[in-house]
Amino acid sequence: MKVLVTGGAGFIGSHTCVELLNNGYDVVVMDNFYNSSPDALEAIKKITGKDFKFYECDMLDYDGVDKIFSENEIDAVIHFAGLKAVGESVEKPLFYYHTNITGTLTLLKVMKKHNVKKIVFSSSATVYGMGNVAPFNESMPLSTTNPYGSTKLMIEDILRDVCVSDAEWHVALLRYFNPIGAHESGLIGERPNGIPNNLMPYVTMVAAGKLPCLSVYGDDYDTPDGTGVRDYIHVCDLAVGHILALKKIDDIKGARAYNLGTGNGVSVLELVHTFEKVNNIKVNYKIVDRRPGDIGTCYADATRAQTELGFKTTHSVEDMCKSSWEFIKNN
Ligand code: UD1
Repeated sequence: MKVLVTGGAGFIGSHTCVELLNNGYDVVVMDNFYNSSPDALEAIKKITGKDFKFYECDMLDYDGVDKIFSENEIDAVIHFAGLKAVGESVEKPLFYYHTNITGTLTLLKVMKKHNVKKIVFSSSATVYGMGNVAPFNESMPLSTTNPYGSTKLMIEDILRDVCVSDAEWHVALLRYFNPIGAHESGLIGERPNGIPNNLMPYVTMVAAGKLPCLSVYGDDYDTPDGTGVRDYIHVCDLAVGHILALKKIDDIKGARAYNLGTGNGVSVLELVHTFEKVNNIKVNYKIVDRRPGDIGTCYADATRAQTELGFKTTHSVEDMCKSSWEFIKNN
């Protein structure tokens, strides 16, 4: 089976390419390196000992995307490409809507033209919004609080509509919880541009002495230690989820959403203290006000992915903290 991976040089994309190649899939990668680098592609080859075709192409470029489908017999697409910074999306909503929505529409039009109707989409737990109580299950009402999240929800809606219009489409909407960690080789991992917004990249920058202190956003949530609780999932477990979705894609009728999380909540301070312990390093932190738009507790009801896809996570929070730090140390 030949799979086109859009955004294959990115954090989750690169780990998924490794998993695809290790499972015998033919891989074609498309990326514009907006938030990633060619190093990741070399690293994927080194880790797997396998080669694959690469196209430097923007998903807004209809002719460029069309060329990829003309030159390769693509069977299915895993679609990661997109902008993903919440704060930036609030400042530049048009940029976010144009890139993520128009880019996905371009991809879908080309797929339709070439009669490729299987897609695994990189969605997010952000679509559960602020009104639901954890654990979040796939049947809960959806809403969003920022343009980034809205693009995820809109793309889900677009894909649901496409499936209604044409029963030949098979769509898996994978709703990621909080992906962290890195491949055990230490060759691929998360490398955010500038000052990170997400917790683990910030923690590693503080540990590396590149930033002075972590701000813990609030210790007055209704959680065991008052700090925010999230469902951290190792990026390699997440990558496996994509392979499982791909294996089942022909059985998926229309568009079906799957949470990819562990089902366990971990607080900010638990994560920080685990990081300190397993890596034997100090992380300076201070408690500050809550971050606007944050919820106290977010974790998955992981039942559907377990029962329908056979998804099971195998990495502990300790593994996640260790491998995140290994990658930053090596790079
Ligand atoms: C954020 C996004 C979400 C996106 C997800 C994955 C927001 C409001 N939500 O989720 O839409 O899908 O990233 O990219 O940005 N924290 C600190 N200090 C920090 C950073 C984070 O205390 O410097 C806390 C947060 O308050 C939260 C937890 O750490 O409790 C995790 O934060 P983060 O990594 O940003 O992920 P989410 O907020 O869950």
